[in-house]
Amino acid sequence: MLSVAILAAGRGTRMASSIPKVLHQLSGKTLLQRVIDSCKQLKPDNIYIIVGHKSRVVEDSILQNKGIHFIVQNPQKGTGHAIQVLSQKVKNHKGKLMVLNGDVPLIKAETLKKLIKFHDSKAADVSLITTMKENPYGYGRVFTKDNLIERIVEEKDCNKNERLNLLTNAGIYCFSWESLSKIINALKNKNKQKEIYLTDTISLLKKSYSFEVEDDRELQGINNRVQLSKCEETIQNLIKEKHMMGGVTFINPSSCTISEESTIGMDVIIEANTHIRGKSKISNNCKIGPNVFIKDTIINDNCEIINSTIFNSKIMDHVKIGPYSHIRPNSEISSQSKIGNFVEIKNSKINEEVKINHLSYIGDSKIGKCTNIGAGTITANFDGIKKYPTNIGKNSNIGANTVLIAPINLGDSVTTGAGSVITKDSRNNSLAIARSKQVNIENWKRNKPRD
Ligand code: UD1
Ligand code: MG
Repeated sequence: MLSVAILAAGRGTRMASSIPKVLHQLSGKTLLQRVIDSCKQLKPDNIYIIVGHKSRVVEDSILQNKGIHFIVQNPQKGTGHAIQVLSQKVKNHKGKLMVLNGDVPLIKAETLKKLIKFHDSKAADVSLITTMKENPYGYGRVFTKDNLIERIVEEKDCNKNERLNLLTNAGIYCFSWESLSKIINALKNKNKQKEIYLTDTISLLKKSYSFEVEDDRELQGINNRVQLSKCEETIQNLIKEKHMMGGVTFINPSSCTISEESTIGMDVIIEANTHIRGKSKISNNCKIGPNVFIKDTIINDNCEIINSTIFNSKIMDHVKIGPYSHIRPNSEISSQSKIGNFVEIKNSKINEEVKINHLSYIGDSKIGKCTNIGAGTITANFDGIKKYPTNIGKNSNIGANTVLIAPINLGDSVTTGAGSVITKDSRNNSLAIARSKQVNIENWKRNKPRD
């Protein structure tokens, strides 16, 4: 039987934040959620999350919390105290108990699986992940003797010599729960921080093994914002390297961020300052950037997007967008269309080969194939209370500066006169003009200004 306990009760004082530490985000996911997601891959029998500081907020933050048990630790007297509280609240101490700090977010499920295998092969009381750190500042130092761990000394409790030890505790432990429960209540708080340390269980247990992991990138603990940003950099580097190996060119990778859930096709070129967030999918041969923000959007082959923002939309193939376009949620831009300078589109279906090249607002609209929307066209979709739709057929030509007062339907091959305010529906093949006629007054002179 495998149970998992994730420690998430601490305030995270060193973050200097009103948000609990484990709820800070890395590439769009909280630290805690990352640890949970890795643990879930082990298919444990139980997952316990130890909460305390702002426990409701922490509980509410968790996605798919079915089968997760929350254990409240109040007050928080240290990592060892957290497990004392768990041991009291859960009576059945059978099998293995894996304990993970909620602030070590990059831990991979594969590494956890290896830890369990190692633990089983040693029939250990406890096995814990250790790693050599070039700069071990802040981490508990691990002292071994004859292949067993003798003790762990926290940074604050180390003397000068002990501080030189580079072998650190990653904060991820696999206990035999039976062995642990025999000694858990013996932990004391005799240390500089007056906390009950979980690390003190090591010297109380007989068979304490170190499972050393060479690559320390996934074992970074986050106690402050400098460490948070380093972790973000690690995740981003891994994501971008993965895409580069899959055939994506990054012109200036350090200026770009890509979410883990996004996919990018082959021969895509990502220019500087491009950010692809949420669950986005970019297909082959696209050129994205510079200066593009895309979230939860599908982009098909051969698109070019420059200096633009796109949310929750679908862009078909060979579409050109930008510079300075804003595609808002629920829009679909079909093949070969072009959305240009300072154009905003919201909740609209733009069919194939449509051009909306300059200074327009298109909202709640359907635009037919091969229609040209002249510069400055506005769909007036809001009467102050409700939003209304605009439908324009195919092969139409909407003159520059047309205002379409929705709800309105224009047929196929409709032309509107430039500067018109269109309030009535127009049938196929018609010309709609709604503006006052020009009057030319011959030989007209301006009045002389008075003295
Ligand atoms: C801890 C380890 C240290 C290790 C490091 C790895 C101890 C005593 N020290 O130090 O050896 O190198 O992690 O990152 O364990 N928490 C609770 N209840 C509490 C206190 C803390 O749930 O009463 C939670 C925190 O929310 C956090 C985790 O336990 O998620 C670790 O606590 P933290 O204060 O960050 O410990 P470190 O100083 O990093
Ligand atoms: Mg920590």
